[in-house]
Formats: sequence, structure tokens, C-alpha cells
Amino acid sequence: MSDPLISASAAGKFKLAGEVDITRLGYGAMRITGPGIWGPQDNPAEALRVLQSLPEFGIDFVDTADSYGPEVSEQLIREALHPYKNVIVATKAGLRRPGPDQWQPDGRPEYLRERAQRSLKNLGVEQISLWQLHRVDPAVPADEQFDAVNALQKEGLVRFVGLSEVSVEQIKAASKHFKVATVQNRYNLFDRQSESVLEYCEANDIGFIPWYPLAAGSIGESSTTLGEVARNHGASPMQIAIAWLLRKSHVMLPIPGTSNRAHLRANVSAANIKLSNDEMNRLNAFAS
Ligand SMILES: NC(=O)c1ccc[n+]([C@@H]2O[C@H](COP(=O)([O-])OP(=O)(O)OC[C@H]3O[C@@H](n4cnc5c(N)ncnc54)[C@H](OP(=O)(O)O)[C@@H]3O)[C@@H](O)[C@H]2O)c1
Repeated sequence: MSDPLISASAAGKFKLAGEVDITRLGYGAMRITGPGIWGPQDNPAEALRVLQSLPEFGIDFVDTADSYGPEVSEQLIREALHPYKNVIVATKAGLRRPGPDQWQPDGRPEYLRERAQRSLKNLGVEQISLWQLHRVDPAVPADEQFDAVNALQKEGLVRFVGLSEVSVEQIKAASKHFKVATVQNRYNLFDRQSESVLEYCEANDIGFIPWYPLAAGSIGESSTTLGEVARNHGASPMQIAIAWLLRKSHVMLPIPGTSNRAHLRANVSAANIKLSNDEMNRLNAFAS
């Protein structure tokens, strides 16, 4: 049974591209695949149950990519959530997968188009709600990649578009070709290399999706400050790391990933944790 008191809705809303409300605490579906983000998991039934329980937890924003599995994550999402009543599924393309743990940028326009079409099939939709360029491929002129994204949007294959692992300059360059709805960069309490990108997103109402928000479940293992704040709230360091992200910026859209229902419940509960200004200052100072 779901507990109405444990809901991602406590995180509040963000208006995607200024048009569609999504709940600020989402779910990342990369690790519902096998080791090395390759093939299916040993226990795909549990991954399916986690996905099916997302709406009960008030989660209406799910992040995936064609390359997770590859295709395994998108197909599981379809099995669990199609026809996506009130759920926005964001996917990505632009990374080729030669094998487990191997990721190679490929931003050739024909490849991006082929992968977007594949994602449409895997997700069972006529239009992808949010499609993100997984990487800007250094081997292909950026303008060609951005033009390709623009064409997919103009043709209606994708509704909103975003970028991943980009600099402020790249966001500005892409913005000449299309409206950037989201940016997805690695960011967490202890990894703030994308702080200037976050500030740019905040100033321009672009959703900022911090990937690796829990450092893959190892965040704060050796942090005294995080441990103290967690004890004050009767919470885990991971829950505080999520609460910190949510408080950090109104454009922040964390997508912690898990294939475990108890972890999902714990992560969603973090939306109810309200950090004081003093706690925010301590956490900011410690991590910077
Ligand atoms: N744009 C990009 O280049 C990029 C790159 C990487 C990821 N992403 C996206 O970002 C999402 C999140 O990133 P991520 O998966 O790298 O990192 P993450 O969300 O920081 O970590 C996920 C890992 O943490 C563990 N975990 C989650 N909640 C936990 C809890 N309450 N207690 C203990 N362990 C917990 C999970 O294991 P259990 O399954 O055991 O819970 C899982 O292995 C991905 O799903 C993907 O959608 C994007």
C-alpha cells in the first residue's frame, strides 16, 4: 500500500520549457539494467515493480536513454508505465555502446535520427516528451548536431529537447538552434564542477538535472557534517543529499536511480526534509 505522506509532490513543481508541470523529484532508469549498464538485470521483476510503483510515489518524471541496456531500460519503462498517464519520460541519444561500460559519442545527424526513431518504438509513443542530446560529439561540428536536434523537434518526433554534459558556451550555441528545456550534468553535494552551468540554467529557467546525485549510493560515506545533519533529521546521508539538491535551486530536478523499492521509498521521503539555512550553509561550506 502506498503511503500518501511519502510523495515526491512535497518537492514542488517545475514548468518544463515553460509549458508542462513536472514534479521536481524524478527517477533515473539507468541502473535497472545489467552490470556495466548492459543487458537485463538478474532480477528484472523487481526493477519492473519499482517502475510500476513510481506513480504511487507521486513521481511523474522518468529519465532514461537509448543506450541504457542498450534499449533494455526503455523497454522496461514501456512494459511498466505505458501509456504513461501523467508521466513524462525523457530519453537521450548520442552515445554508442560497443559493450559493457563502454560509451562512445556519436553525434552524426543520421545516427541521432535513427536512435530517436528507435526510442519512439521502444517507448511505444508517437512523440518523445523530452529528448536529450547525450553528448556533444567532438568529432562532428556542433552546429550539425544542433541542426539535427532542431529537425527532430520541427518534425514533431520530439516535443522538448535538452542537452547533457555541456558548458555554458555550448548551451548558448545550442540555443541558437532550439529552445533548451533541460541540461543534464554530473552534480551532487560533493561535485560542483557544473555550478556555473546551474547558475546559467537558473537565470534562464532551464531545468537542471543533476546526474550521479547520490554518487551511485556512496555519497557522504566519510563526511562528518553530512552525518551530523542526517542524525538531526533522523535521516540517511543520501536523503540529506537529495534534500540539499532540492533546496539548492528551484530549477533542480534530481533523478536518483534505484532498482530497490525500499531505497525508492527512502529517496522519495527526502522530499519532506526541510533543511534550515544554517544546515544549508554548513553543507555548502563543507563541500566547497
Ligand atoms: N547524462 C548522463 O551522462 C548520465 C550519466 C549517468 C546517469 N545519468 C542519469 O542519472 C540517473 C542517476 O545517476 P546514477 O544512477 O549514476 O547515480 P545515483 O542516482 O547517484 O546512484 C544510483 C545508485 O545508488 C544506489 N541507491 C539509490 N538510492 C539508494 C539508497 N536510498 N540507499 C542506498 N543506495 C541507493 C542504487 O543502488 P540500488 O539499486 O541498490 O538502490 C544505484 O546503484 C541515472 O539513472 C540516469 O538516468 C545520466
